[in-house]
Amino acid sequence: MDYNKIFAEIYTELEKIPDTGKIASYIPELGNVDPNKFGVHLTTTDNQDYSFGDANEKFSIQSIAKVLALILAYDLEGEKLWDRVGVEPSGTSFNSLVQLESDLGIPRNPFINAGALVISDVLVGHLKNPKTDFINFVRKVANDPTIDYSSRIADSEKSTGYRNAALANFMKSFNNIHNEIDVVLDFYFHMCSIEMTCKELSRTFLFMAKKGVNTHNNEAILSAAKSKRINSIMQLCGFYDEAGEFAFKVGLPGKSGVGGGIIAIYPGKYSIAVWSPKLNKKGNSSRGIKFLEMLTTEV
Ligand code: DON
Repeated sequence: MDYNKIFAEIYTELEKIPDTGKIASYIPELGNVDPNKFGVHLTTTDNQDYSFGDANEKFSIQSIAKVLALILAYDLEGEKLWDRVGVEPSGTSFNSLVQLESDLGIPRNPFINAGALVISDVLVGHLKNPKTDFINFVRKVANDPTIDYSSRIADSEKSTGYRNAALANFMKSFNNIHNEIDVVLDFYFHMCSIEMTCKELSRTFLFMAKKGVNTHNNEAILSAAKSKRINSIMQLCGFYDEAGEFAFKVGLPGKSGVGGGIIAIYPGKYSIAVWSPKLNKKGNSSRGIKFLEMLTTEV
C-alpha cells in the first residue's frame, strides 16, 4: 500500500475544509505551539514506515501517555486495579468532576483525568523512583533512550492545574488516592508532559497492533489478553465524550492528547500517529480525526 501517496492526497482534500479548532491554552505553554503544524506517521506490523508533513517534530503527547501509564499500572497491580477504576465510557469531558460523587470516588475509566490520577497514584505506590522508573519504561517500549519529560510543560500545567488538584483531593476524600496529593499531581503532570514526534509515537505503540509484542526485541510488553483489553478501553474511552463519534468515523482504538496528537491502532496491520494542534470542543484534534476518518474510509 502506497501510504505516502494516500497521505498527500488526503491532506490536499483536508486543506480545503476550514479547521475551526482552537489550540489548547489552559496549559499556557501549549498555547505557544504553531497551530498549523501537521504530521503523520504510520508503521506497519512488518516494520514499514510512512511519513507525511511535520512527522519528525516533537510535541507534547499529553493524555496519550495515559495508555502507557495504564499498561505499567496493570502489570504491577494486576486485576485488583479494576476495584479502583472502571472500564466504562464516561460520556463526560476529560476533566469532569460530576460523576465522582455518585460513583463514590471511583472514576469511570483510566483515561479521563480522574482515572489517570488513580493510575498515577498506583504507580507512585509501586515504583521506587516513580518519575525515573516510568520514563525508563517508556524508553524501553519506544526503544529510544532520549524520550523525555518537558519540565517546562509540566511546570506550566502545574501553575494552572486547579481542576486536577480538585479531582485528586476529592478522590482522596473517598480513600481512592493513597499517596500525598502533591506527589501524585507532580507525577501526573510529568507523565502528560512527555514529548515525542509522530514517528516515535507510532513506533512506540506498534506493540498494540502486535498483541503486546515489542517489535524491537520480540519481548512481550503485555500479554495478548491484556493488549486486547487495553485496545478495548482505547476504543470505548480514548476520546472521552467523543468516543462514540471517533469509533463511528474512524473505527479504530485510539487515544488523543490536548497537544493535538492522536495514536490509533489497527490490530494486526499498523499503528498511526497524527499531530495537528487545533482541538475541537471535546479537546481532541479536529484535523487529526478528520484525517483518520478519510484514511480508514478510503483504504
Ligand atoms: O490533565 C490535563 O488536563 C492534561 N494534562 C491532559 C488532558 C488531555 O490531554 C486530554 N485529552 N485530550
